[in-house]
Amino acid sequence: HIPVVTVDGPSGVGKGTLCVLLAKHFKWNLLDSGAIYRVLALSILDHNISLDSEDVLETHALNLPLKFVTMESGVHVLLNDIDVSDKLRTQEIGEMASKIAALPKVREALLQRQRDFRNKPGLIADGRDMGTVVFPDAPVKIFLDASPEARAERRMKQLQKNKICAIYDEILHEIKARDERDRNRTIAPLKSASDAFLIDSTDLTIDEVFQQALKIIKS
Ligand code: CDP
Repeated sequence: HIPVVTVDGPSGVGKGTLCVLLAKHFKWNLLDSGAIYRVLALSILDHNISLDSEDVLETHALNLPLKFVTMESGVHVLLNDIDVSDKLRTQEIGEMASKIAALPKVREALLQRQRDFRNKPGLIADGRDMGTVVFPDAPVKIFLDASPEARAERRMKQLQKNKICAIYDEILHEIKARDERDRNRTIAPLKSASDAFLIDSTDLTIDEVFQQALKIIKS
């Protein structure tokens, strides 16, 4: 059976960075499930589709013309063969992604697409429900957590590096609101799988988190 390492956790905890490092280290495939929700959000906004009809959203999710392409600069996301990677990280898309992610039919429609990433030699799966719903049989599960304050500070630094002006209190507020929605939704709420290893990265550097994850995977 093809091995999977699942990495779940809240918004801004550094799952993306950890998963890229792990995928490079093992030369395994990478699933950024958040990007799938974000592309769907982008497409829904582009097509002006209302959130009122879950059936319409379900059909849209099933037929989403989405491709992931690995280039030297990283994994790029194509929608209708157009590279939309740079459009996905906005606040508007994040909000919309989190809203549609709370709809059971949308999640169901995206399930098989995510499972199809499980290819040889192995998969690192980044998300909220990788260990609980998408790959419940994964041999190694990690839940990465950090305090909302630590996550807000990291996001501030990231934004400042990209010369984007940001207010700490607003970022913290957004992170808490996103946590609230992700943890309290009825379908696939964000929570650690009962058999997951917890890494609290509040006081850890990226390299320390990476080393802990390697230890867990190799044990
Ligand atoms: O980077 P950030 O953690 O803010 O977001 P992301 O991982 O790109 O995911 C965007 C949104 O999609 C999240 O707020 C979740 O609500 C949703 N999501 C989900 O429900 N399940 C997943 N497996 C991945 C993302």
